[in-house]
Amino acid sequence: MRISSIEDYNSQYKKSVEQPEEFWADIATEFTWKKKWDKTLEWNFETPDVKWFLNGKLNITENCLDRHLKENGNKTALIWEANDVNEKSRTFTYKELHAEVCRFANVLKNNGAKKGDRICIYMPMVPELAIAVLACARIGAIHSVVFGGFSFSSLADRIHDADCSLVITSDGAYRGAKDIPLKSVVDEALLNCPSVKKVIVLKRTGIEIKMQNGKDVWWHQASAELSLAMENPDECPAEEMDSEDKLFILYTSGSTGKPKGVVHTTAGYMVYTAYTFQNVFQYKPGEVFWCTADVGWITGHSYLIYGPLLSGATTLMFEGIPTYPDAGRFWSVIDKHKVNIFYTAPTAIRSLMAMGLDFVKPYKLDSLRILGSVGEPINEEAWHWYHEHIGKNNCPVVDTWWQTETAGIMISPLAGITKTKPGFATLPLPGVQPVLVDEKGNELTGNNVEGRLCIKFPWPSIIRTTYGNHERCKEAYFSHYKNLYFTGDGCRRDEDGYYRITGRVDDVIKVSGHLLGTAEIENAINEHADIVESAVVGFPHDIKGWGIYAFVICDHKRDDKEKLKKEIVETVTKFMGPIAKPDKIQIVSGLPKTRSGKIMRRILRKIAEGEINNLGDTSTLLDPAVVDEILRGKV
Ligand code: WTA
Repeated sequence: MRISSIEDYNSQYKKSVEQPEEFWADIATEFTWKKKWDKTLEWNFETPDVKWFLNGKLNITENCLDRHLKENGNKTALIWEANDVNEKSRTFTYKELHAEVCRFANVLKNNGAKKGDRICIYMPMVPELAIAVLACARIGAIHSVVFGGFSFSSLADRIHDADCSLVITSDGAYRGAKDIPLKSVVDEALLNCPSVKKVIVLKRTGIEIKMQNGKDVWWHQASAELSLAMENPDECPAEEMDSEDKLFILYTSGSTGKPKGVVHTTAGYMVYTAYTFQNVFQYKPGEVFWCTADVGWITGHSYLIYGPLLSGATTLMFEGIPTYPDAGRFWSVIDKHKVNIFYTAPTAIRSLMAMGLDFVKPYKLDSLRILGSVGEPINEEAWHWYHEHIGKNNCPVVDTWWQTETAGIMISPLAGITKTKPGFATLPLPGVQPVLVDEKGNELTGNNVEGRLCIKFPWPSIIRTTYGNHERCKEAYFSHYKNLYFTGDGCRRDEDGYYRITGRVDDVIKVSGHLLGTAEIENAINEHADIVESAVVGFPHDIKGWGIYAFVICDHKRDDKEKLKKEIVETVTKFMGPIAKPDKIQIVSGLPKTRSGKIMRRILRKIAEGEINNLGDTSTLLDPAVVDEILRGKV
């Protein structure tokens, strides 16, 4: 299934459009099936309803693990680098990882988990996180990983929405110089989540935590007990799953305050993540692949765990942050583990670029062969810095565009094959049929056009539903334009037919690569007792890509404005998490609203972006004077 040249790409792409079913069936044949599928595709974007590899039976972990045991059992599957430079790194061969996954799958079963159950995973970036994810898949439980940077209320919403019966967490987490108390966040979240019967707790930092009798279980104890109760605790038969059985739920922000539980199913996800991993990064056997994304995001699911393991690759997981103990950490890890392919986010590149080359110079970086970027548009300056100073002008940079909903890379160069252009995600992968439309949904044909990015044909890992609310999936992605999947992104197709993503066109902002809904942040701000209303918009930010600008109305005059702002930041941190902290807060007496009471975000966006001479028509506002007031107080 490997594409080896641009001509090969062109012919595979052509086949994927003309005969999509044959194309994907050929690729799917390379995997291990318990029973082969009997129909390749059924789809309807109106309902929406997409099914791939119908009636096929398989387990994704047999494809990630068991399949490699015979020939590559002693090959390294996972390398783990700790937050602390002095802590020993850990490695797992495929055989060892298989045993760990089976063992923990048995722990889950012993604690009442079964096929179809939803299990929430709220953990630091340690090997046990990958083991927990795979153990869920082993027994057919649906994992829902929640990023460790979310606080109790965001966690509770997600546990509640998926009706999880079990939570897997750790006592605490190390992140740079900080110790984060994860278990106590879980305790607080669970006050509102009666569905959770068991919490399995990994010991990581050793901080003191409360363990509730009958509910909270230590990972190491539960694992040790297995040896007494079972003859072969390191073996666990893989549950037979249907191709379309749910594999996981991953929450993502939308235009309303409530996050959407994006659902992916087993076979299509497997085929697409493996295919894209192998082709985009042109992975060669024996190479070390490092994706820096947290497993709490889709990038960590697809290119830290599933894509590499499905391909028999060696994947590296890093617990820490790029600037700890100093801004050379990424580069030291690359040298230490001889990383060949490095996949990170533009925000990380920009922040390390800002720290200066002295942090790069001590390192050789000569193991690197390919560099990747994901999560937000990469500006040309960062692209060139990455290419020149990290890749030494020797490594192709793949700017990969995709989404939680697409589950795998959609538009991207193939490393070393597609001619790159800084700032461009370049060309669609085989199976991906992008179209650009104007606001009314008219297709923009030809080159040199700019519009909204849609996809007109299903690929194997397209979103199947939003958990518990299919209507929402339809509304958010399939109802804007007839028979098209709408991405929410703006996009340009240039004279060469290359795609350049210009950014979101809806009410979500990408802050440091994290997708955050403005409504979700507003809800968190409004938890402050003195705030009656707020409106959040994005503004361009040198490092983060976009920053958060909050306009807030206080219900009585407070003279201690700076204190109030600090309290608002604390409130957002408490209810949503530190990733959603506003960068700028402006206290206002009113917000620009239409006569029907709708906030005119367009105007606030322009103000936040500093385009104050170009506010457009403000005459339809209920009270145009508020705009002048806001302009006078701009921060
Ligand atoms: C943005 C992350 C420009 C885009 C994998 C998309 C990008 C959103 C790129 C999805 C890129 C992702 N260039 N923009 N290479 N990659 N995006 O769901 O706005 O966290 O819609 O998935 O990130 O974010 P998500």
